[in-house]
Amino acid sequence: MCLYQSVVKPILFKLEPETAHHFAFKQLKYALSFPLIRHWAKHRYMISHSFLERKLWGLTFPTPVGLAAGFDKNALLIDELACLGFGFIEIGTVTPRPQEGNPKPRLFRLPEDKAIINRMGFNNDGVDVVVNRLKKRTSSIIVGGNIGKNKTTPNENAIDDYLICFEKLFDYVDYFTVNVSSPNTPNLRQLQDKKPLAELLTTLQNANHKHTNPKPLLLKIAPDLTTDQLNDIINITLETELQGIIATNTTISRQNLRTSSEKIASIGVGGLSGKPLAQKSTDVIRYLAKNSNQKFDIVGVGGIHSAEDAINKIEAGAKLVQLYTGLIYEGISLPSSVAKALLYTK
Ligand SMILES: Cc1cc2nc3c(=O)[nH]c(=O)nc-3n(C[C@H](O)[C@H](O)[C@H](O)COP(=O)(O)O)c2cc1C
Repeated sequence: MCLYQSVVKPILFKLEPETAHHFAFKQLKYALSFPLIRHWAKHRYMISHSFLERKLWGLTFPTPVGLAAGFDKNALLIDELACLGFGFIEIGTVTPRPQEGNPKPRLFRLPEDKAIINRMGFNNDGVDVVVNRLKKRTSSIIVGGNIGKNKTTPNENAIDDYLICFEKLFDYVDYFTVNVSSPNTPNLRQLQDKKPLAELLTTLQNANHKHTNPKPLLLKIAPDLTTDQLNDIINITLETELQGIIATNTTISRQNLRTSSEKIASIGVGGLSGKPLAQKSTDVIRYLAKNSNQKFDIVGVGGIHSAEDAINKIEAGAKLVQLYTGLIYEGISLPSSVAKALLYTK
């Protein structure tokens, strides 16, 4: 058994989940501040091979395996995470003003299911602080900016929030993700409805095309949409000429879990991520791929805990994949072991 499974994970899992997150975050930052350790980590985890490269939207991804939004919301760890073999890192969700998010506890482990329930609520330092951090980064890894709205901004004014984040981050990220799919900001997912979504994406794309070199714009969607909603989203994505869709965010479903229903009830609302999400998100990817005529690209995310999980998403039609919960259950070698396995399946 590896060091993470036998030593690190048992220690982290003794801590309250959010405390464990901050603890692991700080340890990574500290350990990777030493040039020798950074050098070792790069040697151990970064895999460079032309077969792994993906050229999309004018960007060259060194591997198709990225870090999903929510892990490094505030762009605090980009240079360190870049040493761990990710092909790209998505920061955020970032909102115009800083906000604390929902009251704690708001992060829960479901070990029997290798899953997480979170209702963080876009806790983040706000776009200005994040931009200042991005200005100081030294790594050249591809960074995506995942943008959202503040909790107190009503949906009628949501476009303003997205535009503020878009313009302020423009010079410091390589692509954008428009997040309308978090279940933890009241009414946010209503922005996935046809009319508000078309308005939001048209406005952002118009702003984008005013720049000399527009950035790739992606939409992140929930796994809980109906076929009609997915069809609307496909049409809007084509009409607004987005580069792609990130499928998917966390689910509000609690089906097919091993964890007792009493425990699930005691946790309460939030988005479920990890293993139980894998099939659901792969089904969404497959549907999008079948119905998009390859006119946009799909980034697959949800329940990737192994190379096989990533391959399932790629076979369903994803060009890139992202992971988050898998890191918690499988450890920081996951992105590089997935990339390595992709190399051998060529
Ligand atoms: C604690 C936590 C916080 C998250 N925060 C965000 C977020 O701020 N923005 C976002 O788009 N997705 C967020 N996500 C969703 C992930 O990016 C991802 O879509 C989802 O967890 C499914 O992938 P996974 O099963 O590999 O974790 C969060 C997930 C977790 C577990």
